[in-house]
Amino acid sequence: MTSPSLTSSNRRIVVLTGAGISKESGLDTFRDADGIWSRVSLEEVATPEGFRSDPAKVQAFYNARRRQLQDSEVEPNPAHAALGRLSRALGDDLLLVTQNIDDLHERGGADPVLHMHGELLRARCLACGADSLWRADIDRDSRCSVCGATGQLRPHVVWFGEMPLEMERIYAALADCDLFVSIGTSGNVYPAAGFVAEAREAGAHTLELNLEPSEGATLFAEKRYGPASELVPAWVEEVLAETGKDTGLAE
Ligand code: APR
Repeated sequence: MTSPSLTSSNRRIVVLTGAGISKESGLDTFRDADGIWSRVSLEEVATPEGFRSDPAKVQAFYNARRRQLQDSEVEPNPAHAALGRLSRALGDDLLLVTQNIDDLHERGGADPVLHMHGELLRARCLACGADSLWRADIDRDSRCSVCGATGQLRPHVVWFGEMPLEMERIYAALADCDLFVSIGTSGNVYPAAGFVAEAREAGAHTLELNLEPSEGATLFAEKRYGPASELVPAWVEEVLAETGKDTGLAE
């Protein structure tokens, strides 16, 4: 049960999601036993140094994931759909922040979605700095749709050692929220792993929904463990009932 003090209709909620919410959609997590970092070296494919030393290897890594994401098998799961429903019901009272670079939150109906680690379906131009929607492979012949430069595109993804996106907006929301909910993240990577402490500092209730206790589990006032496709719809039902903002649109 979410803390009773939060049953007012206009509470402000910040939700943070990680790779665990997309696992049941068929996308691998990073640090599970079968995770991406058990197969590929993050230093080689997810750092600026890796990109400098072997851009073709990095492009191939993200090209394969971009193709997989657009595979018809990969669909939003009930957790994404539930957050889409919550997003429509709460509007500006919800800020959905994701560490994920997939578009499953958007396809599940959430809007806006803050991608603090960037987006797999966008490319960034090293010549002009613009990022644009990009569904194809990126290679040496790829041409920037803004400035026309060729062979200057990289994935619009935040690598280790780079500054995550939208941090000002995220910290402002954490300082002002009544409820912080972390879903499907291991709590291994900062700054996202520090959000729970920011929310506690602001006096917010904190809830972890995950398959198993994360690194930061002890910092959460409330924890529920199990698959996101079960936990998230149940939690969203509770919130919509408590806030009386149920859209009535069953998923
Ligand atoms: N339902 C809920 N949680 C799940 C599920 C599931 N079906 N399956 C796995 N999980 C949990 C795991 O228990 C784990 O705690 O999801 C978490 C995934 O953790 P990570 O693989 O570390 O992914 P994440 O926390 O998103 O990683 C953060 O690290 O490599 C970088 O940039 C990358 O955004 C990523 C960041």
